[in-house]
Formats: sequence, structure tokens, C-alpha cells
Amino acid sequence: MKVAFAKPEIPTAGTIVALVAEGRKLGKVAHQLDKATKGAIARALEASRFKGGAEEFLTLLAPAGLEAARIILAGIGAPAKYDALAAQSLGGRLVSALNGTGEKEAAVWIETLPELKLSEVELAVNVAYGARLRSYRFDKYKTKEKPEQKPSLKRFNVLTADANTARKDFDPKEKTAESVNFARDLVSEPANVIYPETLAAEARKLGELGIKVEVLGEKEMQRHGMGALLGVGQGSDRESQLVVMQWHGAGDAKARPIAFVGKGVTFDTGGISIKPAAGMEDMKWDMAGSAAVIGTMRALAARKAKVNAIGVVGLVENMPSGSAQRPGDIVTSMSGQTIEVLNTDAEGRLVLADAMWYCQENFKPKVMIDLATLTGAILIALGTVYGGMYANDDALADHLLASGKATGELLWRMPLAPAYNKMMDSPAADMKNISGSRNAGSITAAEFLQRFVQRGVHWAHLDIAGMAWSDKDSATTPRGATGYGVRLLDHLVATQYEEA
Ligand code: BES
Ligand code: MN
Ligand code: ZN
Repeated sequence: MKVAFAKPEIPTAGTIVALVAEGRKLGKVAHQLDKATKGAIARALEASRFKGGAEEFLTLLAPAGLEAARIILAGIGAPAKYDALAAQSLGGRLVSALNGTGEKEAAVWIETLPELKLSEVELAVNVAYGARLRSYRFDKYKTKEKPEQKPSLKRFNVLTADANTARKDFDPKEKTAESVNFARDLVSEPANVIYPETLAAEARKLGELGIKVEVLGEKEMQRHGMGALLGVGQGSDRESQLVVMQWHGAGDAKARPIAFVGKGVTFDTGGISIKPAAGMEDMKWDMAGSAAVIGTMRALAARKAKVNAIGVVGLVENMPSGSAQRPGDIVTSMSGQTIEVLNTDAEGRLVLADAMWYCQENFKPKVMIDLATLTGAILIALGTVYGGMYANDDALADHLLASGKATGELLWRMPLAPAYNKMMDSPAADMKNISGSRNAGSITAAEFLQRFVQRGVHWAHLDIAGMAWSDKDSATTPRGATGYGVRLLDHLVATQYEEA
């Protein structure tokens, strides 16, 4: 589906979309269409329950007086409350509604309405952004789909008086959307296709955008003493990888960067502490944290963000085998701290411990944010509505919460406290990888990670186990891989870390 902007004139084909405010308040566009159809809109409103509420559509088919096939009146509710996210939602819901009708072309006719806080250009850009995000589809393995099972919409036109400005403002947003969709692709691919080496190869492609990409194999990681990460991957026939991405977009290319670290377990069987068979297929998306990091780096480079950013992802496959790590094994992490591995299924924290340490040793970031599908416990606590956030710095936490609200990728701050940290002490080593209690499982995992945060580093950990995959469609995200994290972090960088 192509998204384009054009100057307003009455379309001669496809579906025309006009906005209607709460209480059936028509704007100039709807009035003009009503006139052209000799009052069809007024009659349709009279014959329906449509009130102009924020999620309502009213469709008129083949309206006499127009060559277009359809008019959709799209309710926006109270204009004073309408924001960028609501406009994105509208774009997404239109794509979904029209793909089911066989429509090939839509023209959303944007205008300002009284009390609307968004400018006409902002409205246009956000509707287009939502449409682009919702049109994502992972269908490369469906070889037998009939044309009528495929989405029909080919063109999504947004009509606005200032089409040139809208096109210019949409450009960085489109790059972010492409990066979200790139992350969704990585997460959607099955584990026989995306494994550490192939995921590293995908990250390597970001070199084309000016990102410096280095890939460390097991030999190099051994040299760095990354025993925690390597222990997780040692049961797999696939070689573990560490990918390091650098984007230098700030005026001073040496200024201390912001860093993102991702858990990239390309398949998590649990290892010798093996998971039950039912639902294990979900563990192909146990690399969603790394996809969010790779996607964010892609977005920053594609829109040439004026920031220095580092992305580090630890890529491993957690398998049971004759060479697999055993419960009770003690490993030495790159930090020098030793870990008693009491449960081989608590592997994400082991991978992150070394990836985070490598990141801090090599890049001295002022801010480090890690993302991981780390615990089932965060799903028990927050479900699939909010991601769990832990932070050692209140300002960073507040900025993340604000970006969550602005992008719809919501976060809820969870507590850290010494009493939780103590639960990770081991009698045999510096720490153990599970607390041994069912209580506070996401918090104790975060406390484990905090032991690998160096002094002075502002750190946040995002437990995204509930957010990476969705069983149902939402306005801007079809079911499946969500690409969660890319919009959030891109927004955080744009609002807090980029130079003007
Ligand atoms: N990848 C899982 C966490 C997970 C579970 C993500 C469900 C998405 C959905 C992680 O590696 C894991 O297995 N965690 C264990 C930790 C436990 C052994 C302390 C868990 O949450 O059960
Ligand atoms: Mn696990
Ligand atoms: Zn895992």
C-alpha cells in the first residue's frame, strides 16, 4: 500500500473519507460532499445512529452525484480532545475497514475543525502514519492465498491544502514506521530462519544507513570473558553472536552516547530446565528486545537523528543437549562476578549481564536502556497493556513514561529495593540466577541486572514479555509481532537526547 499526499479536489474513484465531530457536526468537506450528492449525507445521518463519536464510521455506498464508490464519515468525537494518537488510530482503522471491502483506493480529506488542537498538517501526517503502521502484514509464507483473501487497498491518499509540508513532515515518521515494520519482520520469522548468525546478518545490513556494525563470535566473546552469555548458547549448534551498532549523528561524534541493549534469545526452550511443550512456539519471539534495539538504531540512522547512539544485542539459542549448561553450573561473567545457574530457563538475564557490561566498558554511555522479554511474571503483574519499567534515575523514568504516553507504547514503573536485591544472593557464588521464590519474579530479575550496571550510569530496564506479541489487532498494530519499543525509544531520543 502506498501512502501519498495531494491537494484537495473531489476524488473521482475509490473511497472519500470526511471527518465529522461529535454531535454530527459536519465540516466544510462533508457539507461540500452533501451538496454534490444532493443531500445524501444529511439523509444517511438521519437514517443512522452515527453520532460522530471518536471510533464511529458511517459508510454511504455509490452516492449519486459522485463518481467515487463510497463516502465514509469518520467520527472524531470532541475535537478539543483529539490528539496525534487518535489521528494515528483513525488512519489504522480506515486501512483495516477498507481492506475488507475490496476497495483499492482511499482519499482522506483533511480539514481543520473548530476547537481542534492539531494543525491540519499534523492531522494529515498522523493519519498517514497510522495507516502505514496498520498496513503491515507478515505473509511471505502464505503461498495459497486467493486475491480476495489479500488486502485490497493499494493507495492511501491524504488530501490537505498544504500537501508539500505534510509530505516533508511525514518523511521521518515514515522512516520510523518502516523501522517498526522491520522489527516486526525479525520477530515474526520462525527460529529456523532467524537464529544468531542470521539475525546478526540482518543487523549488518544497517551498515547501508551509515551505522557501524561489528559482530563478535564465540571466540571473541571468550576472549572478553563473557561466560554468562556463552553458557546460555553452549547447548546450541548455532554459534552465539554479539552485535554492536554505532550511530554517530551528534555534532561531536565523541560525545557520550545513549545506549540500548537487547535480549536476543532466538529460541528459548528453557534449556535443561526445559519448558512445557504447549506454547513453546511463542519462544521464537524471545528475541523481541534485540529487534526493538535493531529497529530503533535503524530509525535513528534513517532519519539522521542528531545523537550518538549505541545498540548492543546478545544473540543466543537456548537449547538442551549434551553440551548444554546444567542447573548448578557456576559461570564467570565479563564483569568478573560469578553466577550460580540454578535454572537454565532464566537465561535472558545471563545474556544481558555480559551484553550490558561490554556496552559500558567500551562506550561509557551516560544512559543505558535494556529491553527484554525477560519474565512471565511481568505478564502476571501487568498483562499486555503496560510494559514493566525499572530505573535507577527518576528523570530517565519520567521521560520514558512520557514517551510511552505519547506513542501509545505504555510503560508502568516498577520498584527496585535492596531487600529484593538480597534475594539473588547465592551461598556458592556472587549471585544466583533465580531467587528461588515465586514472589516478585520480574523485580528480582531486574535486581539481578542492576548488579551489572556501573556507577554513574543512568539505567532503565524494560521487561516487554507482555508487549512483544499480540493475539488481537489494535488500531495501528495487526495481531502478531508488535515492534514494541521502536516508537517509544525513537520518541525518547527525539524529545530528550537530540540536538536541535
Ligand atoms: N523468555 C522467558 C520469559 C517469557 C515468558 C517471555 C513468557 C514471554 C512469555 C524467560 O527466559 C523465562 O523463561 N523466564 C522464566 C524465569 C524463571 C525461570 C525465573 C519465567 O518467567 O518463568
Ligand atoms: Mn527462559
Ligand atoms: Zn527467555
